[in-house]
Amino acid sequence: MDNSNCCPKQRTMVQAKTWVLTKHFDGFPKNSNFELRLEQLPEPKDGEVLLEAVFLSVDPYMRPFSRVRMKEGDIMIGTQVAKVIQSNNAAFPVGSHVVGRCGWRTHTVCDGTGLTPIMPDWPQDVPLTLALGAVGMPGLTALYGIEEVLGLQAGETLLVNAAAGAVGSVVGQLAKLKGCKVVGSAGSDAKVAFLKELGFDEAFNYKSVGSLEEALKKASPQGYDCYFENVSGPFSSVALPQMKDFGRIAVCGAISLYNDTMPQTGPYPHLTMIFKQLKMEGFMQSRWEHKHPESLKRLMAWVKEGKLICREHVTEGFENMPAAFMGMLQGENIGKAIVKV
Ligand SMILES: NC(=O)c1ccc[n+]([C@@H]2O[C@H](COP(=O)([O-])OP(=O)(O)OC[C@H]3O[C@@H](n4cnc5c(N)ncnc54)[C@H](OP(=O)(O)O)[C@@H]3O)[C@@H](O)[C@H]2O)c1
Repeated sequence: MDNSNCCPKQRTMVQAKTWVLTKHFDGFPKNSNFELRLEQLPEPKDGEVLLEAVFLSVDPYMRPFSRVRMKEGDIMIGTQVAKVIQSNNAAFPVGSHVVGRCGWRTHTVCDGTGLTPIMPDWPQDVPLTLALGAVGMPGLTALYGIEEVLGLQAGETLLVNAAAGAVGSVVGQLAKLKGCKVVGSAGSDAKVAFLKELGFDEAFNYKSVGSLEEALKKASPQGYDCYFENVSGPFSSVALPQMKDFGRIAVCGAISLYNDTMPQTGPYPHLTMIFKQLKMEGFMQSRWEHKHPESLKRLMAWVKEGKLICREHVTEGFENMPAAFMGMLQGENIGKAIVKV
Protein backbone atom coordinates (compact mmCIF):
# COMPACT_ATOMS: atom_id res chain seq x y z
CA MET A 1 0.00 0.00 0.00
CA ASP A 2 1.27 3.47 -0.91
CA ASN A 3 1.42 5.66 2.22
CA SER A 4 3.08 8.66 0.61
CA ASN A 5 -0.04 10.82 0.90
CA CYS A 6 -0.72 9.82 4.45
CA CYS A 7 0.45 12.64 6.77
CA PRO A 8 1.30 11.61 10.30
CA LYS A 9 1.22 14.44 12.91
CA GLN A 10 3.85 17.00 11.85
CA ARG A 11 6.93 16.74 14.05
CA THR A 12 9.10 19.73 14.74
CA MET A 13 12.58 18.32 14.80
CA VAL A 14 14.53 20.70 16.96
CA GLN A 15 18.26 20.51 17.29
CA ALA A 16 19.78 21.92 20.47
CA LYS A 17 23.29 23.30 20.63
CA THR A 18 24.95 22.28 23.89
CA TRP A 19 28.28 22.91 25.60
CA VAL A 20 29.72 19.77 27.15
CA LEU A 21 32.43 19.58 29.80
CA THR A 22 34.69 17.06 28.08
CA LYS A 23 37.42 17.13 30.71
CA HIS A 24 37.29 18.33 34.32
CA PHE A 25 39.00 21.68 34.86
CA ASP A 26 42.55 21.49 36.10
CA GLY A 27 43.54 24.99 37.17
CA PHE A 28 42.05 27.85 35.18
CA PRO A 29 39.47 26.65 32.59
CA LYS A 30 40.67 26.29 28.99
CA ASN A 31 38.84 26.10 25.66
CA SER A 32 39.85 22.44 25.48
CA ASN A 33 37.65 21.67 28.53
CA PHE A 34 34.54 22.38 26.44
CA GLU A 35 32.97 21.00 23.28
CA LEU A 36 30.01 22.33 21.31
CA ARG A 37 27.68 19.47 20.42
CA LEU A 38 24.35 19.11 18.66
CA GLU A 39 21.50 17.15 20.18
CA GLN A 40 18.31 16.07 18.43
CA LEU A 41 15.40 16.80 20.76
CA PRO A 42 12.30 14.60 21.06
CA GLU A 43 8.80 15.94 20.61
CA PRO A 44 7.51 17.20 24.00
CA LYS A 45 5.23 14.63 25.59
CA ASP A 46 2.18 15.30 27.78
CA GLY A 47 3.19 17.63 30.59
CA GLU A 48 6.37 18.69 28.79
CA VAL A 49 7.50 21.93 27.21
CA LEU A 50 10.04 22.96 24.59
CA LEU A 51 12.16 25.94 25.64
CA GLU A 52 14.36 28.26 23.64
CA ALA A 53 17.16 29.98 25.57
CA VAL A 54 17.19 33.77 25.32
CA PHE A 55 19.83 34.71 27.91
CA LEU A 56 22.24 32.46 29.77
CA SER A 57 24.12 33.16 32.94
CA VAL A 58 27.80 32.50 33.57
CA ASP A 59 28.57 32.34 37.28
CA PRO A 60 31.59 31.61 39.47
CA TYR A 61 29.88 28.63 41.17
CA MET A 62 30.09 26.68 37.90
CA ARG A 63 33.83 26.28 38.45
CA PRO A 64 33.74 24.59 41.92
CA PHE A 65 30.36 22.88 41.35
CA SER A 66 31.62 21.25 38.14
CA ARG A 67 33.83 19.05 40.35
CA VAL A 68 31.12 17.94 42.73
CA ARG A 69 27.96 18.00 40.62
CA MET A 70 29.19 16.96 37.18
CA LYS A 71 31.07 14.18 35.44
CA GLU A 72 33.04 14.47 32.22
CA GLY A 73 30.69 14.39 29.23
CA ASP A 74 27.88 16.23 31.05
CA ILE A 75 26.38 19.42 29.69
CA MET A 76 27.68 22.41 31.68
CA ILE A 77 25.40 23.35 34.56
CA GLY A 78 23.72 26.73 34.51
CA THR A 79 20.62 28.86 34.53
CA GLN A 80 18.94 30.65 31.66
CA VAL A 81 15.99 32.82 30.78
CA ALA A 82 14.07 30.86 28.16
CA LYS A 83 10.94 31.29 26.09
CA VAL A 84 8.34 28.54 25.97
CA ILE A 85 7.92 27.75 22.27
CA GLN A 86 5.84 24.56 22.53
CA SER A 87 3.81 23.46 25.53
CA ASN A 88 1.86 20.48 26.77
CA ASN A 89 1.88 21.90 30.29
CA ALA A 90 -0.69 24.51 31.30
CA ALA A 91 1.65 25.99 33.91
CA PHE A 92 3.99 27.16 31.11
CA PRO A 93 2.00 28.65 28.21
CA VAL A 94 3.59 29.25 24.80
CA GLY A 95 5.20 32.69 24.64
CA SER A 96 5.81 32.92 28.40
CA HIS A 97 9.30 33.12 29.88
CA VAL A 98 10.89 31.03 32.59
CA VAL A 99 14.10 30.90 34.56
CA GLY A 100 15.36 27.36 34.13
CA ARG A 101 18.23 25.29 35.41
CA CYS A 102 18.69 23.82 31.94
CA GLY A 103 22.46 24.05 31.62
CA TRP A 104 24.40 25.44 28.68
CA ARG A 105 21.95 24.58 25.90
CA THR A 106 19.93 26.53 23.36
CA HIS A 107 16.82 24.32 23.47
CA THR A 108 15.42 22.06 26.15
CA VAL A 109 12.54 19.62 26.43
CA CYS A 110 11.51 19.18 30.05
CA ASP A 111 8.54 18.50 32.29
CA GLY A 112 8.71 21.76 34.25
CA THR A 113 11.05 20.52 36.97
CA GLY A 114 13.56 23.25 37.78
CA LEU A 115 11.58 25.91 35.91
CA THR A 116 10.32 29.08 37.57
CA PRO A 117 7.92 31.26 35.62
CA ILE A 118 9.09 34.87 35.36
CA MET A 119 7.02 36.93 37.84
CA PRO A 120 3.61 37.47 36.18
CA ASP A 121 3.79 41.23 36.82
CA TRP A 122 7.37 41.64 35.50
CA PRO A 123 7.42 45.26 34.26
CA GLN A 124 7.73 45.78 30.50
CA ASP A 125 10.54 48.31 30.95
CA VAL A 126 12.76 46.01 33.04
CA PRO A 127 15.00 43.72 30.94
CA LEU A 128 14.49 39.99 31.48
CA THR A 129 18.26 39.63 31.97
CA LEU A 130 17.74 40.95 35.50
CA ALA A 131 16.08 37.62 36.33
CA LEU A 132 19.62 36.20 36.19
CA GLY A 133 21.12 39.12 38.13
CA ALA A 134 19.82 41.69 40.59
CA VAL A 135 16.26 40.26 40.52
CA GLY A 136 17.52 36.72 40.48
CA MET A 137 20.00 34.47 42.24
CA PRO A 138 22.84 37.02 42.70
CA GLY A 139 20.44 39.66 44.07
CA LEU A 140 18.94 37.13 46.48
CA THR A 141 22.44 36.17 47.59
CA ALA A 142 23.24 39.80 48.39
CA LEU A 143 19.97 40.29 50.26
CA TYR A 144 20.23 37.14 52.39
CA GLY A 145 23.89 37.72 53.14
CA ILE A 146 23.07 41.18 54.46
CA GLU A 147 19.81 40.46 56.27
CA GLU A 148 19.95 36.83 57.34
CA VAL A 149 23.66 36.28 57.88
CA LEU A 150 25.11 39.64 58.85
CA GLY A 151 22.00 41.27 60.31
CA LEU A 152 23.46 44.56 59.07
CA GLN A 153 22.34 47.58 61.12
CA ALA A 154 22.12 51.27 60.22
CA GLY A 155 25.30 53.13 61.06
CA GLU A 156 27.58 50.12 60.66
CA THR A 157 30.52 49.92 58.27
CA LEU A 158 30.55 47.12 55.71
CA LEU A 159 33.38 45.85 53.53
CA VAL A 160 32.64 43.94 50.32
CA ASN A 161 35.10 42.58 47.74
CA ALA A 162 34.46 41.68 44.09
CA ALA A 163 32.26 44.71 44.71
CA ALA A 164 31.60 45.62 41.07
CA GLY A 165 30.29 42.14 40.25
CA ALA A 166 26.78 40.70 40.19
CA VAL A 167 26.53 40.04 43.93
CA GLY A 168 28.91 42.73 45.22
CA SER A 169 27.26 45.62 43.40
CA VAL A 170 23.90 44.72 44.95
CA VAL A 171 25.46 44.20 48.39
CA GLY A 172 26.89 47.72 48.40
CA GLN A 173 23.67 49.36 47.25
CA LEU A 174 21.49 47.47 49.74
CA ALA A 175 23.89 48.37 52.55
CA LYS A 176 23.61 52.05 51.55
CA LEU A 177 19.80 51.71 51.61
CA LYS A 178 20.13 50.42 55.17
CA GLY A 179 22.07 53.53 56.18
CA CYS A 180 25.54 52.02 56.37
CA LYS A 181 29.00 53.15 55.35
CA VAL A 182 30.15 50.95 52.47
CA VAL A 183 33.71 50.19 51.40
CA GLY A 184 34.23 48.19 48.21
CA SER A 185 37.24 46.72 46.48
CA ALA A 186 37.42 45.73 42.82
CA GLY A 187 40.01 44.89 40.21
CA SER A 188 40.15 47.92 37.89
CA ASP A 189 39.87 51.70 37.94
CA ALA A 190 36.76 51.50 35.74
CA LYS A 191 35.17 49.26 38.37
CA VAL A 192 36.12 51.69 41.12
CA ALA A 193 34.50 54.54 39.16
CA PHE A 194 31.35 52.41 38.84
CA LEU A 195 31.28 51.80 42.60
CA LYS A 196 31.46 55.56 43.21
CA GLU A 197 28.52 56.01 40.80
CA LEU A 198 26.58 53.48 42.87
CA GLY A 199 27.16 55.54 46.01
CA PHE A 200 29.88 53.49 47.73
CA ASP A 201 31.53 55.72 50.35
CA GLU A 202 35.00 54.36 49.62
CA ALA A 203 36.27 52.19 46.80
CA PHE A 204 39.71 51.11 45.70
CA ASN A 205 41.44 48.96 43.11
CA TYR A 206 42.99 46.10 45.08
CA LYS A 207 45.37 45.37 42.20
CA SER A 208 47.02 48.80 42.27
CA VAL A 209 46.86 49.96 45.91
CA GLY A 210 50.27 48.59 46.85
CA SER A 211 49.31 47.79 50.44
CA LEU A 212 45.86 46.27 50.90
CA GLU A 213 46.20 46.74 54.65
CA GLU A 214 46.83 50.48 54.23
CA ALA A 215 43.93 50.80 51.77
CA LEU A 216 41.53 49.11 54.21
CA LYS A 217 42.77 51.23 57.13
CA LYS A 218 42.49 54.44 55.10
CA ALA A 219 38.96 53.61 53.91
CA SER A 220 37.77 52.98 57.48
CA PRO A 221 40.27 53.88 60.20
CA GLN A 222 37.83 52.60 62.86
CA GLY A 223 37.66 49.15 61.22
CA TYR A 224 34.71 47.15 59.94
CA ASP A 225 31.57 45.84 61.63
CA CYS A 226 30.67 43.56 58.74
CA TYR A 227 32.54 41.91 55.91
CA PHE A 228 30.76 40.39 52.91
CA GLU A 229 33.32 37.92 51.63
CA ASN A 230 33.29 37.05 47.92
CA VAL A 231 37.00 36.41 47.38
CA SER A 232 38.70 34.74 50.41
CA GLY A 233 42.38 33.70 50.23
CA PRO A 234 45.06 36.34 50.83
CA PHE A 235 42.49 39.19 50.74
CA SER A 236 40.74 37.62 53.70
CA SER A 237 43.99 37.24 55.64
CA VAL A 238 44.55 41.00 55.39
CA ALA A 239 40.91 41.98 55.95
CA LEU A 240 40.18 39.94 59.11
CA PRO A 241 42.59 41.90 61.33
CA GLN A 242 40.78 45.09 60.19
CA MET A 243 37.50 43.92 61.73
CA LYS A 244 36.16 45.61 64.85
CA ASP A 245 35.69 43.49 67.96
CA PHE A 246 32.61 41.28 67.58
CA GLY A 247 32.66 41.86 63.82
CA ARG A 248 30.54 39.59 61.60
CA ILE A 249 31.68 37.96 58.36
CA ALA A 250 29.36 36.44 55.75
CA VAL A 251 31.33 33.97 53.66
CA CYS A 252 29.52 34.06 50.35
CA GLY A 253 32.29 33.12 47.95
CA ALA A 254 35.95 32.25 47.63
CA ILE A 255 36.69 33.02 44.00
CA SER A 256 40.41 33.47 44.59
CA LEU A 257 40.56 29.74 45.44
CA TYR A 258 38.34 28.23 42.73
CA ASN A 259 41.07 27.63 40.16
CA ASP A 260 43.73 26.35 42.52
CA THR A 261 45.37 23.05 41.63
CA MET A 262 46.87 22.80 45.13
CA PRO A 263 44.93 24.04 48.18
CA GLN A 264 46.31 27.31 49.58
CA THR A 265 47.40 27.24 53.20
CA GLY A 266 47.40 29.88 55.99
CA PRO A 267 47.91 32.26 57.54
CA TYR A 268 45.22 30.73 59.72
CA PRO A 269 42.61 33.17 61.03
CA HIS A 270 41.85 31.59 64.39
CA LEU A 271 43.87 33.81 66.71
CA THR A 272 42.45 36.95 65.08
CA MET A 273 38.98 35.49 65.43
CA ILE A 274 39.54 34.71 69.11
CA PHE A 275 41.10 38.04 70.06
CA LYS A 276 38.47 40.03 68.14
CA GLN A 277 35.65 37.59 69.00
CA LEU A 278 34.54 37.49 65.37
CA LYS A 279 31.60 35.56 64.00
CA MET A 280 32.01 33.97 60.57
CA GLU A 281 29.24 32.14 58.74
CA GLY A 282 29.24 30.51 55.32
CA PHE A 283 25.97 30.43 53.44
CA MET A 284 24.23 29.48 50.22
CA GLN A 285 21.28 31.52 49.05
CA SER A 286 19.19 28.37 48.55
CA ARG A 287 18.81 28.13 52.36
CA TRP A 288 16.09 30.77 52.13
CA GLU A 289 14.32 29.40 49.03
CA HIS A 290 10.98 29.73 50.85
CA LYS A 291 11.53 33.50 50.90
CA HIS A 292 12.47 33.86 47.21
CA PRO A 293 9.10 35.11 45.85
CA GLU A 294 8.81 37.84 48.48
CA SER A 295 12.51 38.74 48.21
CA LEU A 296 12.35 39.02 44.40
CA LYS A 297 9.43 41.43 44.79
CA ARG A 298 11.50 43.58 47.15
CA LEU A 299 14.47 43.59 44.77
CA MET A 300 12.21 44.48 41.83
CA ALA A 301 10.66 47.34 43.84
CA TRP A 302 14.14 48.80 44.48
CA VAL A 303 14.93 48.51 40.77
CA LYS A 304 11.69 50.26 39.81
CA GLU A 305 12.31 53.02 42.36
CA GLY A 306 15.76 53.62 40.88
CA LYS A 307 17.41 52.60 44.15
CA LEU A 308 19.10 49.52 42.72
CA ILE A 309 21.20 50.23 39.64
CA CYS A 310 22.00 47.17 37.53
CA ARG A 311 24.81 46.97 35.07
CA GLU A 312 25.46 43.99 32.83
CA HIS A 313 28.33 42.67 30.78
CA VAL A 314 26.66 41.00 27.79
CA THR A 315 28.48 38.59 25.48
CA GLU A 316 26.74 37.93 22.18
CA GLY A 317 26.39 34.39 20.86
CA PHE A 318 25.88 30.98 22.41
CA GLU A 319 29.14 29.86 20.78
CA ASN A 320 30.93 32.29 23.10
CA MET A 321 29.74 30.69 26.38
CA PRO A 322 33.21 29.37 27.38
CA ALA A 323 34.84 32.72 26.54
CA ALA A 324 32.21 34.57 28.61
CA PHE A 325 32.70 32.17 31.53
CA MET A 326 36.49 32.44 31.49
CA GLY A 327 36.27 36.22 31.02
CA MET A 328 34.07 36.53 34.11
CA LEU A 329 36.51 34.43 36.15
CA GLN A 330 39.26 36.80 35.00
CA GLY A 331 37.29 39.87 36.04
CA GLU A 332 36.26 41.21 32.60
CA ASN A 333 32.73 41.93 33.78
CA ILE A 334 31.33 45.03 35.42
CA GLY A 335 27.99 43.92 36.86
CA LYS A 336 26.33 40.66 35.90
CA ALA A 337 27.96 38.52 33.19
CA ILE A 338 25.29 37.42 30.70
CA VAL A 339 25.32 35.63 27.37
CA LYS A 340 22.72 36.62 24.77
CA VAL A 341 21.97 33.72 22.46
N1 LIG B 1 26.93 31.57 48.52
C1 LIG B 1 26.08 31.74 47.51
O1 LIG B 1 24.91 31.35 47.57
C2 LIG B 1 26.59 32.46 46.29
C3 LIG B 1 25.72 32.82 45.26
C4 LIG B 1 26.23 33.56 44.18
C5 LIG B 1 27.58 33.90 44.15
N2 LIG B 1 28.39 33.50 45.16
C6 LIG B 1 29.81 33.87 45.18
O2 LIG B 1 29.87 35.28 45.20
C7 LIG B 1 31.06 35.71 44.56
C8 LIG B 1 30.71 36.73 43.48
O3 LIG B 1 29.90 36.10 42.51
P1 LIG B 1 29.28 36.94 41.31
O4 LIG B 1 28.31 36.07 40.62
O5 LIG B 1 28.86 38.26 41.81
O6 LIG B 1 30.54 37.11 40.34
P2 LIG B 1 31.12 38.49 39.80
O7 LIG B 1 31.62 39.25 41.00
O8 LIG B 1 30.15 39.13 38.91
O9 LIG B 1 32.34 38.02 38.92
C9 LIG B 1 33.47 37.46 39.50
C10 LIG B 1 34.46 38.55 39.91
O10 LIG B 1 35.37 38.00 40.84
C11 LIG B 1 36.56 38.75 40.82
N3 LIG B 1 37.71 37.85 40.87
C12 LIG B 1 38.01 36.86 40.06
N4 LIG B 1 39.16 36.25 40.45
C13 LIG B 1 39.57 36.89 41.54
C14 LIG B 1 40.69 36.74 42.40
N5 LIG B 1 41.61 35.78 42.21
N6 LIG B 1 40.80 37.58 43.44
C15 LIG B 1 39.87 38.53 43.64
N7 LIG B 1 38.80 38.71 42.86
C16 LIG B 1 38.65 37.90 41.81
C17 LIG B 1 36.57 39.55 39.53
O11 LIG B 1 36.38 40.91 39.85
P3 LIG B 1 37.64 41.86 40.19
O12 LIG B 1 37.95 42.58 38.92
O13 LIG B 1 37.11 42.74 41.24
O14 LIG B 1 38.77 40.99 40.62
C18 LIG B 1 35.33 39.04 38.79
O15 LIG B 1 34.70 40.04 38.02
C19 LIG B 1 31.73 34.46 44.01
O16 LIG B 1 32.71 34.04 44.92
C20 LIG B 1 30.61 33.45 43.97
O17 LIG B 1 31.06 32.12 44.04
C21 LIG B 1 27.93 32.78 46.22
